[in-house]
Amino acid sequence: MTSSGTNAAGLTGSTAWELLLPAASAPARARGRALQAALRGAIRSGRLAPGTRLPSSRDLATDLGVSRGLVTEAYEQLTAEGYLRSGRGAGTWVGDAVRAARPGARDLAPRSSGTRADFVPGTPDLSLFPRAAWATAQRAVLAGLAHHELGYPDPRGLPRLRTALAGLLARRRGVVADPERIVVVSGVAQASALAGSVLHARGLRSIGVEDPGSPQHDGLYAAAGLGTVPLPLDEDGLALGPLRASGVRAVVTTPAHQYPTGIAYSARRRAELLGWARSVDGLVLEDDYDGDFRYDRAPVGALQGLDPERVAYMGSVSKSLAPGLRLGWLLVPADLTEEIVERKRTMDLGHPSLDQALFAHFLERGDYDRQLRRCQRAYRERRDTLVAALAGHFPEARVSGIAAGLHAIAELPERYGPEEDFVKRVAAAGVAVRPLSDCTHARTGDRGVRLVLGYAHLPPARIRAGVRLMAEALDG
Ligand SMILES: Cc1ncc(COP(=O)(O)O)c(C=O)c1O
Repeated sequence: MTSSGTNAAGLTGSTAWELLLPAASAPARARGRALQAALRGAIRSGRLAPGTRLPSSRDLATDLGVSRGLVTEAYEQLTAEGYLRSGRGAGTWVGDAVRAARPGARDLAPRSSGTRADFVPGTPDLSLFPRAAWATAQRAVLAGLAHHELGYPDPRGLPRLRTALAGLLARRRGVVADPERIVVVSGVAQASALAGSVLHARGLRSIGVEDPGSPQHDGLYAAAGLGTVPLPLDEDGLALGPLRASGVRAVVTTPAHQYPTGIAYSARRRAELLGWARSVDGLVLEDDYDGDFRYDRAPVGALQGLDPERVAYMGSVSKSLAPGLRLGWLLVPADLTEEIVERKRTMDLGHPSLDQALFAHFLERGDYDRQLRRCQRAYRERRDTLVAALAGHFPEARVSGIAAGLHAIAELPERYGPEEDFVKRVAAAGVAVRPLSDCTHARTGDRGVRLVLGYAHLPPARIRAGVRLMAEALDG
């Protein structure tokens, strides 16, 4: 170290710095991430023990021959992740709980349950959560918040956030977004509860849902007192005949990336669906649960953009940031707005202001767009990895629904079935998969195996290992 005298015991002359040198000579574009990864690795492996004090960012930057900003950023990121902690005065130390808190997050060791790859659908990669940017936003928001802004918020949400959301949704999803008609909610779950409860108050007792569809929808609308009527799909989306015959006046849909089949509703079916809604003076509820992630096709705009008076549009940050934030939005037709807002008010007196201000700040600074781009890159690579691994080990598999979202459908021929046995055999090899039949109301009688495979949360190595283990389990 150039200024070893200033560094605390444990680091001076430590071989830990040698570990960082290759990262320092990485190509300029990759250097920051390489440095962070090398530091993480050194801490995880124990070469930098808990309690070790790190050199100042200036010293380390000089020693490694990199910019000080790069080191500061690495310290901030690893502090946000819990690998490092910083003292009240100057100083940064290796955190105490690192290894306990992060048990081999990226290796292939069996988890305690014995599961080596869990293809659970609907989960983003939570390690991509932008902790450093979030922490920066949190500090900025707290510093700038006026006292009165800590009072009860407008039940629709902070005007600042609704304006930022309107811009985002218009730009990215083609939504007709009037900030006055946006309600900030705690996720699609609460948006559904609000819409369901207002429809119930208007006398509706049943609502159509897609079949196959999200098991979440049944529970959410049932809780609002609405019975769900399963409605079949065809290759264009929700089948019109059964919808018309059902007698329902409201229907829950996932038109951008149908859950779970992954189809995008055709332009014709979108128009027909809206035509149906007008003819019964009804409402289409649009659950845009993973509409942000598109890989090889042009973005499919929201149905709401075609007829904002017939569609209630809902989305959240659960797939783009983290479901634990419990943050989402509901856009409602004019004639429902007042009732929905009143219901939100009586339900919880408004969404937490600090969380709203923080997300507004995040949006305004372009951090959310950056996060979406980052996830998009990672998830596309994982999607490609899954498709290639399936092609290698299961050449007869038909893989679909892969142009968007966080999961794919894999259909395997009859000889792999029955489905229940398939799921049990691969589970015994440590691979958790969900059959598509978990999402259907009617048993189809199909003898093949259809799986809903979530890939976004799994590093490519784990995806490859999971598919290989699956194939080996079935060969054995
Ligand atoms: C299709 C679908 N809609 C809605 C939700 C719930 O979303 P939120 O976390 O926004 O309440 C989920 C959750 O996994 C989902 O898969």
